[in-house]
Amino acid sequence: MGLRVDLIDKLKKLGIQTSEDIIYIGDKVLSNLLGISREKAMEIVKEAYKYYQLELKPITEIKEKIEVLPSPFPSYNRFFGGFRGKRIYEFYGKFGSGKTNLMITIAVDSLLKGFKVIWFDSEGTLSYDRVFKVLIERAKRIDFKGDINQVLNNFFVKRIGHSDEIIFASIRLGSFVRSTGARVIFFDSLTAPFRSDYMGMGELAERQSTLGYVMRNLLRCAEIFNLWIFFSNQVVSVISPTGNISHEAVSPIGGNVLQHLASEIYYLRKKGNKRYFSVKDVPDLPELEIPFKITEAGVEEVSYREEEEEESE
Ligand code: GTP
Ligand code: MG
Repeated sequence: MGLRVDLIDKLKKLGIQTSEDIIYIGDKVLSNLLGISREKAMEIVKEAYKYYQLELKPITEIKEKIEVLPSPFPSYNRFFGGFRGKRIYEFYGKFGSGKTNLMITIAVDSLLKGFKVIWFDSEGTLSYDRVFKVLIERAKRIDFKGDINQVLNNFFVKRIGHSDEIIFASIRLGSFVRSTGARVIFFDSLTAPFRSDYMGMGELAERQSTLGYVMRNLLRCAEIFNLWIFFSNQVVSVISPTGNISHEAVSPIGGNVLQHLASEIYYLRKKGNKRYFSVKDVPDLPELEIPFKITEAGVEEVSYREEEEEESE
């Protein structure tokens, strides 16, 4: 490209590698990232367009085998064999419903399958001890012969304190993926920092458009790098038409933007001492509800029979 070498270096450091990346990011973000004027950023974008190729392909060329990552729930795996790749999965539910434990279990199973993992922790709830214990337990169950410490070296973590860091992580995800070789990505949680950094109705529109931008970056990365991206989301209580706030009726935060852009949405809830994982918005999946418990092995499906026995105790 007709850009200065030092500029190309700077772009590469930010994870911007191709002319498509530049066009996708656009002049506004580019000017912020590089600390240059909008005009200068626009020149870079114009230059990138010279190298942009609009290619049309016959549909037969995009038909491909989809990779799956087994979920911790056998009933779920009966449908597709597990979580399908190139997608973004949303897990929403109240505090303590099991979101972090579910994602730790998926992360550990991914590691045991030889995948590398990146975990963005905005809640400070990722504990080394918990990951280690779940890993030991699940490794035992599959009679894993490899070196556990070696496996743990494939688990990369970044603590997130502010919503800007999530925006940045979504822009740089491509370069993180290139440098680590990770294919399975977690954001726990994706939305909490936005909730505290954008307060009140006045900032709602800006929060939603920023979340939309983050989601589109993530989706694009999921497709280009063949990733599984999982994120957790908190809920708000829904006010009924009569004005009552129900503890049961909850809605994921982030509104339409997340609902439209997440590829698959699941709801976790706790009722008494029982927990359920349910399919909320997956076009080609029936409305499953899987009972599960949290154990030393992370999360585990409970059979309906076991459920009923517990109930009659
Ligand atoms: P927030 O992040 O607060 O929104 O909650 P969450 O949905 O991520 O819930 P999380 O996965 O942290 O689940 C918390 C529950 O897991 C608590 O009820 C704990 O009792 C339970 N838990 C955590 N560690 C263990 C464990 O080692 N064994 C068992 N049996 N339960 C555990
Ligand atoms: Mg959590």
